Amino acid sequence: MITTFKKGSGLSAVLGLAIAAASHGAAADCSYSISNEWGSGYTAEITVTNDTGSTVEGWDVSWQYNSNQVTNSWNAQVSGSNPYTATDMGWNGTLQPGQSVSFGFQGSTNGGSAEQPTLEGSLCGGGTASSSASSVASSVASSVASSVASSTPSGVFLQCNWYGTVYSVCSDTQSGWGYEDGESCVSRSACESQPEPYGLVDEDNSSSEASSVASSVSSSASSAVSSSVSSAVSSSASSAVSSTASSAASSSAPPTGDYQRVDNPFEGTQLYIDPVWSEKAMGEPGGEAIANENTAVWMDRRGAITDGIGLKGHLDEAVNQGADTFMFVVYNLPNRDCAALASNGELRISENGFQIYQDEYIAPIKELLSQPKYSNLHIVAIIEVDSLPNLVTNLDEPDCQEANGPGGYADGIQHALNELSDLPNVYSYVDIAHSGWLGWSDNFSEAVQLIGDTVKGTDKGVDSIAGYVTNSANYTPLEEPYLPDPSLQVGGQPVRSASFYEWNPYFGELEFAQDWRDAMIQNGFPSDIGMLIDTGRNGWGGPDRPTGVSSSSDLDTYVDESRVDRRHHRGNWCNQPGGVGERPQANPAPGIDAFVWVKPQGESDGVSTADFEQDPNDPAKQHDPMCSPDANNEDAGVPTGALPNAPHAGRWFPEAFNLLLDNAYPPLD
Ligand code: BGC
Repeated sequence: MITTFKKGSGLSAVLGLAIAAASHGAAADCSYSISNEWGSGYTAEITVTNDTGSTVEGWDVSWQYNSNQVTNSWNAQVSGSNPYTATDMGWNGTLQPGQSVSFGFQGSTNGGSAEQPTLEGSLCGGGTASSSASSVASSVASSVASSVASSTPSGVFLQCNWYGTVYSVCSDTQSGWGYEDGESCVSRSACESQPEPYGLVDEDNSSSEASSVASSVSSSASSAVSSSVSSAVSSSASSAVSSTASSAASSSAPPTGDYQRVDNPFEGTQLYIDPVWSEKAMGEPGGEAIANENTAVWMDRRGAITDGIGLKGHLDEAVNQGADTFMFVVYNLPNRDCAALASNGELRISENGFQIYQDEYIAPIKELLSQPKYSNLHIVAIIEVDSLPNLVTNLDEPDCQEANGPGGYADGIQHALNELSDLPNVYSYVDIAHSGWLGWSDNFSEAVQLIGDTVKGTDKGVDSIAGYVTNSANYTPLEEPYLPDPSLQVGGQPVRSASFYEWNPYFGELEFAQDWRDAMIQNGFPSDIGMLIDTGRNGWGGPDRPTGVSSSSDLDTYVDESRVDRRHHRGNWCNQPGGVGERPQANPAPGIDAFVWVKPQGESDGVSTADFEQDPNDPAKQHDPMCSPDANNEDAGVPTGALPNAPHAGRWFPEAFNLLLDNAYPPLD
């Protein structure tokens, strides 16, 4: 049975009220709350409240762990290493009387569990908590103890640890997921069906934990009130303490009222940092240079919705971080990856895949996204990478032929868009592969037609999307700085006729994306559609990056010496030695809503050997010869250039991560 709380609801509402009351008049209001805990990591939030009665310019908080360690932070500058000190960022340093500010961070538990340290600092009371704070603390404690003790197995305080996130248990009549008091809850029977170490939070243990709260709080009244209450009660309670307390007075509380849809969901917003990816990135040498950037969360099978911290854990974490924009990928069409093997998915058209996609994949995603507590997040949905492009160029493949028919890609995408476009805060961008695939004019115009028709066939037609996304996550650069003109004559021939470009007029994603947008506007789409470009691995820096134009008069030599894209062939897609590209940013160029990182760095494109072990999450994933370092790209008769030792698609691949860092362009700090 589980005794660790992670997130509170019923129990914590009681605590929250008590702490909000405690905050009046005591210059001791800093709270520490664990937002999420998984494996060896955690994220936590500290809320600082100015209870001094006069304006405060600048604040700091210090704390010390037994074994935990901070790895990265947001909304504060964290320095030191146990003890840690966080100071304001300047822009959040001024606090009016009663005003709060929160900041967050991520860390490693180093074999222990997430700790609740005591907070010290200019606004945190530290050893100076007043006696009134101490009496409030003990009354909080006894109210906690009696609340928990009086709870019953079906009562409001019973909770469910659902894959590491704690929910309240719905009233006994509810089955599956539901809502009570605006909070999501899970039925008792669903909870009980969870494997160990998840499941119902044991009532007796909760009670005994509560009695230790009482003694611990009264004996530690000299330290910061909310911090000591939090540490004694467990992270469940503390999380709600801080969120209740901070929503009472926070300067960064989310706006309330009707959601206002925006033109560009990336403009002027704080982007979500995925703590699970970020922890892996931090674990690699130099990884901290990018670990604080936004990457998309992939829903690449039904199980991804609930496994690990799940979609709900990510969304809750986004709210905890105070992020405005959260990006995820819809990637589970039946017959997925129809022209390759590495990312074959769990659903087949011939095995009722379209129905399952609707009922067991899109429906639960929509259900989660529509919860009121996420209604102020801009949720960016990347729709089905590589799917419709396969129907443009790969209809010779039987799987793609089938995907071109009923219950296939167009039906699946239309269904996804119909459902997601019901939610005013979801911004869908449909994937259009990249310029090295759809750049030739016949492919380009066929794709504009096919993809345009697919979107137009949805309930809301052209209004069901915010735009399109390119290069997810291929290695095609934004532009070729030394080959700006595809028609330039070298050795009597245009540059685009070189072997590397095969007459494709687009050498980079920027112009391709801008022209695609124009073509779609011509095709009837509104002029406010925007483009995203995945720049996660298209940087091509490092020691081999050319620094100028070739002086050769031989066309192929000229192109090969001038191009920054150093692949053997533009069709090579698997585990290439590219580099981290432009950092995520809004409005980088006309028509481009943002540069984004759709495919997180360090996640493999496909397993490199044919004698692989099945991936238990994705038994359909296979070895594609394009991922073999020793094979040739069959179509082009050149090496694949794929890195060796790669695990299955999506699995962590440290060598690839490290290479991407080394080859970053623009270079990393
Ligand atoms: C894989 C997915 C994975 C994604 C992001 C794809 O190639 O098939 O399983 O989630 O990459 O790494």
